[in-house]
Amino acid sequence: MNNISVTYECAPNIALIKYWGKSNEDLIIPLNGSISITLDTNVLCSRTTVVLIKSNSAKIYVTLNNVTQIIDNTDLTKNAGDLINKKRLFTMLDKVRQNCGLENPFEFEIRICSSNNFPTACGMASSASGFACLAKCLAKVFDYKGDVSELARLGSGSACRSCFGGFVKWNTGANSSESLSTVLFPAEHWPEMNIIALILEDEKKAVSSTHGMKDTVLTSKLLPQRVKLVEEERLSMMEQFIREKNFSQFAKLVMQDSNSFHAVCMDTYPPLFYLNDKSKEIIHFINEFNKIDCRVKVAYSFDAGPNCFLFVLDQDLNELMFLLKNVYFLNEDLCDKIGTNETKIFLEKLNFDRIDEQRKLLLINLAIKLSNQNKSTIIKYLIHSKIGSGPVLNNNNSLLDLDGIPKFV
Ligand code: DP6
Repeated sequence: MNNISVTYECAPNIALIKYWGKSNEDLIIPLNGSISITLDTNVLCSRTTVVLIKSNSAKIYVTLNNVTQIIDNTDLTKNAGDLINKKRLFTMLDKVRQNCGLENPFEFEIRICSSNNFPTACGMASSASGFACLAKCLAKVFDYKGDVSELARLGSGSACRSCFGGFVKWNTGANSSESLSTVLFPAEHWPEMNIIALILEDEKKAVSSTHGMKDTVLTSKLLPQRVKLVEEERLSMMEQFIREKNFSQFAKLVMQDSNSFHAVCMDTYPPLFYLNDKSKEIIHFINEFNKIDCRVKVAYSFDAGPNCFLFVLDQDLNELMFLLKNVYFLNEDLCDKIGTNETKIFLEKLNFDRIDEQRKLLLINLAIKLSNQNKSTIIKYLIHSKIGSGPVLNNNNSLLDLDGIPKFV
């Protein structure tokens, strides 16, 4: 049999109703369900190639950031210096081998290579897109008969939502085979939606999501109330607002859920501070923008870090960008702050002349009110994305040759 090679691209997703806390650490079963939007793979994506080589050695090679390591299944609890969480990788491999179409799935050497089209320094988390890619590739090369979102979830919880495009729900589930994600609505359902990431800090977070949520589960008395609220009200409300395309209700709930998630982080002992002063500054900015017409036009959301994700419809995008420019980038070219080529094209297409003079005056007055301190250095990168359609099979852009040797090392 010839070597088998598969390459997938997957985008990160942003949770609208957030996952925080597990009922089963090993199987990554969440305490509550969550709903997310998948970003566009053309803007941000992880790319992963997996090559299976028939061999008795059954070794596993992992190449990340041009570094290759041989990973074995000894000492699964120790991860120091490893490129990938070994325990999670082997849980995924066990799962895929138990339920696959290959006659003898242990007779292969596995070569894995992954990279992101966005620099780590741009502050975007890549574990969701990375593990979704790995799951998609493993499922394909092993002819896996199970659910790919279950496989991705065993790598990292939020990764199960990056296995699909559009609006995705991860159902809590009572056990591993029930804790799966599904598409609620495809990307085309709400084409007017824009997602803007404002990267405020590009350093790695102090406490990882995995560790942070473990501490929250152990110590927060607020968490059970949040879990109840999410399960009993928020998931169905969010689904309804998306179905009806009721933006103001959608946006309010996105912000409330982000606030509630950071409240349980604060309620953790010792407390988890993911938001910083710059994040709070952006929250203030958005609230002021929403006050202008007494209408919620933009939502903010923050994950386990200070960086901000904004949701805004096409109709309000131009004014939002005009205000952002006048508060944060007054003396700079917006294009110097972009994270990707697609964002550059998006910014070039913006036309502030379309805003009538009276509105401009109103927005400039607000900008003056908001700009009395030096804010020009707050935003490091700006990334714009529409809703993405999900994973892309891209064997033409393989990162490994057919012998499993990295192409660009
Ligand atoms: C705040 O999926 O990174 O982004 O399952 O331990 O790998 P593990 O954690 P991870 O947590 C993501 C938490 C979050 C909220 C969310 O994406 O729903």
